[in-house]
Amino acid sequence: TAALPEGYTARALRKSDYDAGFLDCLRVLTTVGEISREAFEEHYRWMETQESYYVLVIEDGNREKPAIVGTGALLVERKFIHSLGLVGHIEDIAVAKDQQGKKLGLRLIQALDHIAEKVGCYKTILDCSEANEGFYIKCGFRKAGLEMAHYY
Ligand code: ACO
Repeated sequence: TAALPEGYTARALRKSDYDAGFLDCLRVLTTVGEISREAFEEHYRWMETQESYYVLVIEDGNREKPAIVGTGALLVERKFIHSLGLVGHIEDIAVAKDQQGKKLGLRLIQALDHIAEKVGCYKTILDCSEANEGFYIKCGFRKAGLEMAHYY
């Protein structure tokens, strides 16, 4: 995996990232809602009990107060098919608007892909809009199938 820009770090999400703008980073992706510190911490504690749920962040340490400028998640699904095969699902990739185009998105995908391969996934899949197809192609993915959704 190639280097991040000077002063940037990629690491697992921490509970303290509530104060470093983790949720604001996600707002570039979609509606996040108002999440209290208590609700965030409860969700974080639940996440810690999950062995197959990885949330990575990229922190910009060049600022007076370090800030989360990118995030992405990997869920590992344990299947019955393919001899109890493992499939990685990449979810919720977001790079802060003013930080886009610095390869942070690419680095997040590379890091999540690396985890998926290391834990033994035979493939990793994701859903995205057509507007992001070119980004994922640059990350080494290719179009495979069609996304369907049923909203409640
Ligand atoms: N279409 C085509 N190419 C793209 C796009 C795009 N939408 N976005 C980036 N690229 C290219 C870049 O030009 C670069 O190419 P290069 O290597 O030839 O220079 C390469 O892809 C890597 O780009 P990065 O700089 O790593 O991209 P960035 O850090 O800006 O992250 C991302 C891309 C995550 C899509 C970001 O723009 C973003 O957060 N967008 C808003 C939220 C979003 O749409 N997230 C993805 C949802 S899908 C999901 O989560 C599974």
